[in-house]
Amino acid sequence: MIVCSCNCLTEAQVRESCTRTEGAARSTFEVYKCLGCSPKCGTCARTIRKIMNETLGAGACNACPIAANSACGAAKIAGALSTAIEPLPAGAGLVAAE
Ligand code: FES
Repeated sequence: MIVCSCNCLTEAQVRESCTRTEGAARSTFEVYKCLGCSPKCGTCARTIRKIMNETLGAGACNACPIAANSACGAAKIAGALSTAIEPLPAGAGLVAAE
């Protein structure tokens, strides 16, 4: 399934990028970098983060040596965002402002 239409990235590619034995992506930006592209519109960032969390488990930040050994700000922000952001209801879409 395509998760990034700007870069034609698939869910499988995202999962592979964060489970590589060397140079695994630990942030959404690193996923783009690992896959040889960069974010464009950014619409897919939340989906990529969700796939990373599913792939790496609840302890995604625990895989990062910095987060595991300190009070990492990124881990705190990721935790806060995951509880604060509600997904859109099924079938809901964005409407352009007039
Ligand atoms: S959909 Fe991924 S950068 Fe636009």
